[in-house]
Amino acid sequence: MSKLNTHYLGLELSSPVIAGSSNFTSAVSSIVEAEAAGAGAVVLKSLFEEQILSQASSLSDKSSYPEADDYLAWYTRNNTIDNYLDLISDARKSVKIPVIASINCFSGEGWTDFAEKVQSAGANALELNVFYLPVDMHQTGTQAEKMYYSLVSDLKKRLSIPISVKISSRFTNLLNVAYQMYNHGAAGLVLFNRFYEPDFDINTMKITAAPVLSNPIEKRYVLRWVGMVSALNIEMAISASTGVYSAEDAIKYLLAGADSVQVCSALYKKGFSVIKEINNGILNWMIEKEYSSIRQFRGLLNYRNVENPSLFERTQFMKHYSSYI
Ligand SMILES: Cc1cc2nc3c(=O)[nH]c(=O)nc-3n(C[C@H](O)[C@H](O)[C@H](O)COP(=O)(O)O)c2cc1C
Repeated sequence: MSKLNTHYLGLELSSPVIAGSSNFTSAVSSIVEAEAAGAGAVVLKSLFEEQILSQASSLSDKSSYPEADDYLAWYTRNNTIDNYLDLISDARKSVKIPVIASINCFSGEGWTDFAEKVQSAGANALELNVFYLPVDMHQTGTQAEKMYYSLVSDLKKRLSIPISVKISSRFTNLLNVAYQMYNHGAAGLVLFNRFYEPDFDINTMKITAAPVLSNPIEKRYVLRWVGMVSALNIEMAISASTGVYSAEDAIKYLLAGADSVQVCSALYKKGFSVIKEINNGILNWMIEKEYSSIRQFRGLLNYRNVENPSLFERTQFMKHYSSYI
């Protein structure tokens, strides 16, 4: 057994480094490449709820979700639902690593039968990329959050494969969201999803899309939440997704308590070889620190295990800033 062996969502992974959902995981050939580079699992490119509902027939109507429009344009050209199911089963036949399907959704209306097909096609788990942007000023945060929970519990009743939920970082009380997700049947959380953000071009006076790829600095915000969610007394697997470019980035997330990390932007910048680079870097660090398994150091610096957990909390940051010259 390799030193990098670990578990995520109850699945055995040969490495904690997962090729995250993107165009790099939309074809069997690239999934094979990801495995060859040492990925512990792959999360397939998401299929969108709108696609499932309409079989992409009425996609000329612009949806109210700009990022969905963008992805949909790509999918309308290249994919159908059947192709997605074929992708799952072909990938399962072509690689040994777990294949995690991904559905981008914002409601539990009318499409959840499809999740059963995903399971029958052989997916080892389902990652729900839930994208719900509240635009109604009368809806409370609690009402909005309930949509996530009922979606998870509906799917949990239908599926035997584990369900992970890829969420946004923008909740009032993320620890409660994690706890509720767990209570409603989620086996894991992916922290965090990345959305297209609007930007303004002040010369053309148009709204543009902000840069899509992440920056390693963005990891710092996520690190806190991985460290705090992993310290909760619940059986919730955590996959850290944001700003993993190097072994150091991955080790930080593992020390914070992540069970796995996902690479996406780094694949766009460096190709699949980055996975090998990260795996080798983790191994070298483990040798230096005399660790023989991931289990020995995972979570060592999380909110529960660190000597001074208040370092995770905001007040300490305020103190830090006030003494910063
Ligand atoms: C070009 C691109 C396409 C993406 N497509 C998806 C997708 O289909 N489904 C999904 O859940 N996340 C998607 N993501 C988000 C990534 O999986 C990942 O969560 C995010 O980019 C943060 O990780 P990173 O810092 O490694 O890029 C996409 C990201 C990029 C940059």
